[in-house]
Amino acid sequence: MSEEKKNTPAERGSGMGSQPGNEFDRRAFFVKLGLGSLSIAAAGTAAFSYQFLSPNVLYEPSPIVNAGKPENYAVDSVTMDVNAGIYLIHAQEGFFALSAVCTHLGCLTAWKPELGIIACPCHGSKFTRYGVKIEGPAPRPLPWLQTSISDEGDLMVDRSITIRPMQFVRV
Ligand code: FES
Repeated sequence: MSEEKKNTPAERGSGMGSQPGNEFDRRAFFVKLGLGSLSIAAAGTAAFSYQFLSPNVLYEPSPIVNAGKPENYAVDSVTMDVNAGIYLIHAQEGFFALSAVCTHLGCLTAWKPELGIIACPCHGSKFTRYGVKIEGPAPRPLPWLQTSISDEGDLMVDRSITIRPMQFVRV
């Protein structure tokens, strides 16, 4: 008489009694898969929430340029600050600053000391050192920029404020 143990239907359905190691592996696999999916979803939610809550602001550099001490600029000199896109000019009448951006299509102009003019390399506009247009397609003169002396005695140029021409800063 053999004593063969028969599995109940519940045991057969769950795999209990037949291959106990496989059942444990499958359950552990699905637990890990679920946790992994939850982790990925949580990370995505966190990233999206951070982006949503961050202020949607464009940080731009300050329009104010510190051009340094007035004594650094010889009389009758035209000094270009390429990074700031300005000219700092020390004329007989005093200091002033011009935008170096051409009023035609926005190219950066250049000072031509041999000719004593500011010239645009793109379409040939030419300006005097006071920004007055001499020739070319530029529709307007180069703008004068607000220039002042700081408490520390530095020349400060505010590129966001244009002023009427011929307003010199005297030191
Ligand atoms: S951009 Fe200066 S002349 Fe056209």
